[in-house]
Amino acid sequence: MTEIFGELDHPARLLMGPGPINVHPRVLRAMSVQLLGQFDPEFTTYMNQTMALYRQVFDTANHWTFLIDGTSRAAIEAALVSVLAPGDDVVILNAGRFGLLLSEIADRCGARLHLVEGAWGTVIDPNRVEEVVKHVRPRLVACVHGDTSTTMAQPIAALGEICRRYDALLYVDATATLSGMAAPADAWGADIVTAGLQKCLGGPSGSAPITISDRGAEHIFSRRHVERGLAVTSDAGAGRRIGSNYFDLAMVMDYWSERRLNHHTESAPMLFAARECARVVLEQGLQARFADHALAGKAVTAAAQAMGLEVFGDLSHKMTNVTAIHIPRGVDGDRVRARMCTDFEIEIGTAFGQLAGKVWRIGAMGVNARKHAVLTTFAALEAVLRGEGYSFTAGAGVDAALAVYQEDAA
Ligand SMILES: Cc1ncc(COP(=O)(O)O)c(C=O)c1O
Repeated sequence: MTEIFGELDHPARLLMGPGPINVHPRVLRAMSVQLLGQFDPEFTTYMNQTMALYRQVFDTANHWTFLIDGTSRAAIEAALVSVLAPGDDVVILNAGRFGLLLSEIADRCGARLHLVEGAWGTVIDPNRVEEVVKHVRPRLVACVHGDTSTTMAQPIAALGEICRRYDALLYVDATATLSGMAAPADAWGADIVTAGLQKCLGGPSGSAPITISDRGAEHIFSRRHVERGLAVTSDAGAGRRIGSNYFDLAMVMDYWSERRLNHHTESAPMLFAARECARVVLEQGLQARFADHALAGKAVTAAAQAMGLEVFGDLSHKMTNVTAIHIPRGVDGDRVRARMCTDFEIEIGTAFGQLAGKVWRIGAMGVNARKHAVLTTFAALEAVLRGEGYSFTAGAGVDAALAVYQEDAA
């Protein structure tokens, strides 16, 4: 029997979780433009423009600034597998789910792991990292800037200095912060920084911006082996072959170079989406965008606290764009999320691992880092929590969020 199902026709939800978030309308329009062949000069011009745009978004002069086709973890995997050969030492900062993800991927690369651990809800003291780096002398130090699982933002600049001192490369996962919080690749002294579109950049998941320093590129190219079906005699390989074809950054960089050596078929709608995300961000200006995210995060925190809810973690290192809120005793967290969705068409986030069932995570990012989205979310949360028997002063959350915006406008 043929089953065709209906056309896509779902409710327009307000996505206020830790990502994905609602996509900017201009990005949606860019994705619906007719595609081009991947070697069409119009298309390769768009590729070069996208490199130039993301240099500005990453605040870097790095030539090697481009996109990995895939979600954010595709870029993480590309970075780690292209740098780490089996037996290489890597120091990983682990204070949340995404620190653990770095260790899992590095483990699969056959690297020797040295974890610097921190409790969830805290950041890691760079002096502790230095002690380990001094002792191990790793090829790479890897860390997450904003770990959405805990909502903590790890200070990075001191790590860059440590890596220079001990001649290690520095990798930073800025998936959840790029264009929402300052993530300046060059000022950090980072060698590889990766991101995704579905958080502060305001796009869909499926394309992952990456930037690589000359030092990082030199190391990656020291392992360059052109794909067998494309290689000419001058392409004799060097070093240990990178342990993945799809995520071989040397090959992906050859594709993004003027040589345009074919690798994957670049996804036109995702290139268009990434390009438009960056244009929206840069038209607004990075500083103004950081300020919008900071204000929204302040309003979310104030609203939660005014309702008697406890905000999770070390607030002095909290990401601005995602806030974790303890689920009050006696309240069924999943039922609250379900009622937010069915009664109000609003999605807030659940949590993973050791925080599962303990906190909700509310993101105010991209197009949703604005007053209307925060106020609507808290008006709904107040109504749902009242219905669940949680006692607090009605209206306190919305009033507190509004006061943050009014104070800012004054
Ligand atoms: C900090 C961080 N890193 C990596 C990822 C993985 O991203 P993706 O699901 O796009 O692969 C996420 C997703 O939430 C994240 O928050």
